Amino acid sequence: MTRPYNLPAFKEAEEARSLEELELVRVRALGKNGAITALVKTLGQMTPEERQSKGIFYQAMKSEFSRLVSERKAALEAADLDRRLATERLDLSLPAKDSPQGTIHPVSQVMDELAEIFADLGFAVAEGPEIEEQWYNFTALNMPENHPARAMHDTFYCEPRDGQAEPRVLRTHTSPVQIRAMQAQGAPIRIIAPGRVYRSDSDATHTPMFHQIEGLVIDRRIHLGHLKWTLETFLRAFFERDDITIRMRPSYFPFTEPSAEVDVGWSMEKGRRVVGGSEGWMEVLGSGMVHPRVIADCGLDPDEWQGFAFGTGVDRLAMLKYGMDDLRAFFDADLRWLKHYGFRALDVPTLSGGVGA
Ligand code: PHE
Repeated sequence: MTRPYNLPAFKEAEEARSLEELELVRVRALGKNGAITALVKTLGQMTPEERQSKGIFYQAMKSEFSRLVSERKAALEAADLDRRLATERLDLSLPAKDSPQGTIHPVSQVMDELAEIFADLGFAVAEGPEIEEQWYNFTALNMPENHPARAMHDTFYCEPRDGQAEPRVLRTHTSPVQIRAMQAQGAPIRIIAPGRVYRSDSDATHTPMFHQIEGLVIDRRIHLGHLKWTLETFLRAFFERDDITIRMRPSYFPFTEPSAEVDVGWSMEKGRRVVGGSEGWMEVLGSGMVHPRVIADCGLDPDEWQGFAFGTGVDRLAMLKYGMDDLRAFFDADLRWLKHYGFRALDVPTLSGGVGA
């Protein structure tokens, strides 16, 4: 190749075999004492005429050299990448033998199962704070101050703060999320709200913190039939049995009218009580049609909008499905228990693969 510049640096740059070698060539030409730098420096001693013609020439030489260096640099880098791609390999099929193996807690597993089941029925997941205002936890749910139902909840009250009308509480149920969701989204609405709740209670089947999941549907012409179908469908999917029977017993909650407690039938199988059939009944849910006053207080017209709501204990559902008998063990953080009852991290519940891993 013929080159307008006969400096050896051009040939050296073109033939540099590595990035390091190229860098040396570049510094030898363009560095403080470089060959091209030295030529540019001579401009200072020239006559103006000489400087004009040589100046243009040197500048052109300099930029041509720089262009050559970056071209070679790109080529060397590409070759380097090709070489690395060809030689560096990671075998992703190797078993992760010695990596730590944590498990998914049954409560998290059941929450995932519930979210999956209700997502298929068109329910979104909603959230609310665990430290809640009394207005959301009680008043807006048709439990005004001095309402006897407030006393039934064994509530934890927070220290009153200056300037606060009422001290806040640790929410005693997930029902305040009904109010927050209605206020935020209006109607129609279809949500579930899983989360922690707190009551001052402790024995084999009660812990001061436990988990509930709330369901709320608000739409036009909603009736008890929708509630019953939804609960049956959910319980069949959750327990993965078609022979689930439910029984609705009249009950009382201040925020639903009418209200019903829902029992699920059990039967004896190989000496064990299992969910399914109807030899006996156990209570699993609280539910009802959302009280018109609650709907109105959230700014919706109860003549146009009706709805149903339900609430159930997530821990209790986990105990029933996976055969655990002491609730306190859920929160002991005993690794042996977690290893035994926990779920593998990759067994994610899906409706096609089965919700219970
Ligand atoms: N919040 C009620 C409880 O904790 C359960 C419930 C929820 C009842 C929704 C009716 C409707 O006992």
